[in-house]
This record gives sequence, structure tokens and C-alpha cells, in this order.
Amino acid sequence: MRLTLSFSTCLLSLAAASPAGSLAREPKGHEWIPKLPGQSRSPCPGLNVMANHGYLPRSGKNIDLAAVRYGVANAYNYAPTTFDSAFQMAVDFNLTTTGNASTFNLADLAAHDKVEFDGSLSRNDHYFGDDNSFNPFIWATVAKRLGLYDIQRSQKDKYVTVEVAAKARAARVKDAKRVNPEFNASANEVTGSPGTTALYLVTLWDEKADAAPKSWIKSFFEQERIPYLEGYASSLGTQKTNLTIGAMFQRVSAVEV
Ligand code: HEM
Ligand SMILES: *[C@@H]1O[C@H](CO)[C@@H](O)[C@H](O)[C@H]1NC(C)=O
Ligand SMILES: *[C@@H]1O[C@H](CO)[C@@H](O)[C@H](O)[C@H]1NC(C)=O
Ligand SMILES: *[C@@H]1O[C@H](CO)[C@@H](O)[C@H](O)[C@H]1NC(C)=O
Ligand SMILES: *[C@@H]1O[C@H](CO)[C@@H](O)[C@H](O)[C@H]1NC(C)=O
Repeated sequence: MRLTLSFSTCLLSLAAASPAGSLAREPKGHEWIPKLPGQSRSPCPGLNVMANHGYLPRSGKNIDLAAVRYGVANAYNYAPTTFDSAFQMAVDFNLTTTGNASTFNLADLAAHDKVEFDGSLSRNDHYFGDDNSFNPFIWATVAKRLGLYDIQRSQKDKYVTVEVAAKARAARVKDAKRVNPEFNASANEVTGSPGTTALYLVTLWDEKADAAPKSWIKSFFEQERIPYLEGYASSLGTQKTNLTIGAMFQRVSAVEV
């Protein structure tokens, strides 16, 4: 509690110092507070980001279906039931350590070859040890291919297109296959890899640009922060559903890689 309070105070003084008090655009009660000791986080940036903003319990523990429904609707403007089947998948794998089959702790999701698979964009493979935490070295290879740090000369340079994202994903999987002698090209990996690329694109989509802003992708993966400060608002686009994700999955899969 004490820690949390001093953290918020720190963020508030930052806001006061920043031009136009830009941090004030974080919705009240949903300020970004990254993981504190004792809290649980997952290999999934989408869930961690929500916990870091209090759209899921900040503890990351005892996550139930109602919490996921609330989070995805309020943080990202998905129809509340969009992730019901993802939640159910976690339940069906019996990976929970909470003692309640209807809930899990975020770190439970790192169990290998259950929901978690090889060739992630921002995590290392289980073979190398930690498949749960953000891995800056793995991510750097992907970020480079997404052009996240390229000099942005034109408006066009500020966005990641479906084509660029699909190629970066395929290249990351190719790298992982080359170095991991136990790479598991499971059915889950084969669909999950383009599936999670579709997920971050849909979540961070700028409908007018038909692409995702690089600054939003950086914030989401590197800080596990909702890019409010970079202009994101959950109300910007139209409500997303599993159909939106399905359509993006098709677009990602259609790219020749
Ligand atoms: C109950 C709902 C969810 C569950 C159980 C879940 C679980 C997971 C798991 C276990 C992974 C690791 C897969 C891997 O090994 O690469 C993952 C990755 C990922 N998830 Fe989720 N997730 C959920 C919801 C979401 C949401 C709402 C978003 C987006 C807003 C999201 C975006 C992603 C992305 C982009 C990755 C890929 C990360 C990477 O490759 O580095 N997920 N998710
Ligand atoms: C999970 O547990 C249930 C009930 O004990 C069992 O029927 C099911 O086969 C288990 N699933 C997996 C993937 O181990
Ligand atoms: C298990 O979790 C569910 C969902 O939060 C809750 O409704 C139920 O009461 C919990 N069961 C026990 C035994 O605590
Ligand atoms: C690959 O993963 C699947 C589950 O996704 C699992 O059933 C299978 O045993 C794994 N294969 C190896 C060789 O570990
Ligand atoms: C989308 O969700 C609806 C309602 O929850 C469900 O009936 C449908 O099968 C889902 N479609 C896909 C492609 O997952």
C-alpha cells in the first residue's frame, strides 16, 4: 500500500512537470504502475498491460472470467466475451496454482506447451529458461524488423503495416527454429504465432491509417503500458470482436513470407 502510494505520488509529480500534463490522460484509477514485488505477470503482454493499469487485479492473481471480460472491454474496447474461449483454454489445461479451477495467476500461463508456445515475439523459448518475462534481446530482433527505431521522415514511417508485422513474425519463428533444438511446431504454435500478431495489431489499430502506430507498439511491449500518452484511447475506434480478430488473422496469414 505504502509502495503503491509513493509510486502514484511520483507519477503525479512527473505529470506536473511534463508539457500539457500529458499523463493526466490516463483514466483515473487506471494509472500505469508496473509490476511490484509479489505480483504475478504472464508471457502475455495483453494481460500484463491490463494488470499494470488496474483493468485486471494489479496483483495478477486469482484472475477469473468476469475480470477478463471487464478488462478487455474497458482497456481495449473489445466486446466483453471476446476472450472467453482463450480464458477457457487456460482453464482446460489445468495450469492453475490458485486452488480454484475457475481462476489462475498470470504466471501460471507460462506453463510450456499448454497455452504458451515457442517462437514468441518478446519472450525467449522455454528451452532457454525463462519463457515468461519480456526479453529485450529477443524483442530487439523483432523491433528492428518492425522498423520501430527507424528515423520517421514521413507520416507513413510512423506505422507498422500488416505486411511488415507478418514478415517480422515469420522471421522470428525462423530464428527460434534455428537456435532451439526442441522447438515445438505444435498446432498451437502454428496458429498461435500469427494469432498473437493479429491480436496486437487489432488491439493497437489505427483505423484511418490501416496500420498500428510504432509508438503504441513500443509502449505495449516494452513497458507493458497502454499508450494513452501517445494518443491511444479505447474509445477511438469501433468495438472489436472475435470477428475483428479473425479478419486480421486472415490478413496476417495471407502475407507471403
Ligand atoms: C484470457 C485471455 C488471454 C489469455 C489466457 C492469454 C494468454 C497468452 C499466453 C499464454 C501467451 C504466450 C504465448 C506465447 O508463448 O507466445 C500470450 C501471448 C500474447 N498475448 Fe495473450 N492471452 C489473453 C488475452 C490477450 C489479450 C486481450 C491480448 C491483447 C490485447 C493478448 C495479446 C497477446 C500477444 C500480442 C501475445 C504475443 C506475445 C509475444 O509473442 O511475445 N492476449 N497470451
Ligand atoms: C484437466 O483435469 C480434468 C479433470 O481432472 C481432466 O478430465 C482433464 O483431462 C485435464 N486436462 C488436461 C489437459 O490435463
Ligand atoms: C472460485 O472462483 C470463482 C470465480 O471467481 C468463484 O465464483 C468461486 O466462488 C470460487 N470458489 C471458491 C471455492 O472459492
Ligand atoms: C508439443 O506441444 C504439444 C502441445 O501443444 C504437446 O502435446 C507435445 O507433446 C509437444 N511435443 C514435444 C516434442 O514436446
Ligand atoms: C465469436 O463469438 C461468438 C459469440 O461469443 C461465437 O458464437 C462464435 O463462434 C465466435 N467466432 C469465432 C470465429 O471464434
